[in-house]
Amino acid sequence: MNKDAVREFWNQAACGEELYLADTGQAGYTAQAEMRYALEPYIRDFAGSEETRGLRVLEIGVGLGADHQQFVEAGADLYGIDLTERAIDHTRQRLAAFGLASHLAVGDAENLDFPDESFDRVYSWGVLHHSPDTPKAIAEVWRVLKRGGRANIMIYHKHSVVGFMLWLRYGLLAGQPWRSWADIYAHHLESPGTKAYTVAEARQLCARFSHCKISTVLTHGDLLTSEAGQRHRGLLLTVARKIWPRWLIRRFFPSKGLFMLITVVK
Ligand SMILES: C[S@@+](CC[C@H](N)C(=O)[O-])C[C@H]1O[C@@H](n2cnc3c(N)ncnc32)[C@H](O)[C@@H]1O
Repeated sequence: MNKDAVREFWNQAACGEELYLADTGQAGYTAQAEMRYALEPYIRDFAGSEETRGLRVLEIGVGLGADHQQFVEAGADLYGIDLTERAIDHTRQRLAAFGLASHLAVGDAENLDFPDESFDRVYSWGVLHHSPDTPKAIAEVWRVLKRGGRANIMIYHKHSVVGFMLWLRYGLLAGQPWRSWADIYAHHLESPGTKAYTVAEARQLCARFSHCKISTVLTHGDLLTSEAGQRHRGLLLTVARKIWPRWLIRRFFPSKGLFMLITVVK
């Protein structure tokens, strides 16, 4: 997988831009944030921005900047990077629309431009699985965290309902049931080369940290409760949305969500 292809993908449209951002003023960004937290209510708790007043915080992969704004409003000494100009421009524009600012720059999670032990907190939601060398990006998180510092990182969980749906569509129904889930994620979920990890693999990735807590959540993607997944639209998705056994998934497969929430302490 090639990082230029990842950059090019996210430079076409930042995450959620096409579906949820109607305009780039205060009203547009507010509506996008409201939609985001309605669909993904667990984000705010996980990000834990309210406890970051006065702390030095780095967000990796700011996207449209909704979570970033929460950290600024909480009073963090905040830094943010993203691989794309587009995300940095949006985030800067969002903050400016509210009279806010932070230290923003285009940057690469695999080569963070900060000295060792710079941050009390690192936060990254849905980013590091898109970077070609995820272990290197996690090693960078470890390097820039202070001793005792904490990182909250969301990456994709391999054994998810979304993974199963993608396999049904691009494996079984495409006449290639042997196709690996890794290959399907890499070709059909967001930017080229996207990866997903088992809980055991994620623990391994984070082995260098002194403490690691991992949980998974069922998402609107697993439950087909949103308009997400436009690139897979068609009759199959329309029918699936109508008949999807949401109660059954919630009851019997609560740990098969796409999002893996990882909290680590250095
Ligand atoms: C799915 S979006 C998530 C954005 C935001 N955190 C959110 O939740 O909406 C993935 C983001 O990761 C960024 N990204 C991918 N690889 C990266 C890397 N190596 N370094 C920094 N950002 C990266 C992309 O540019 C994109 O903005």
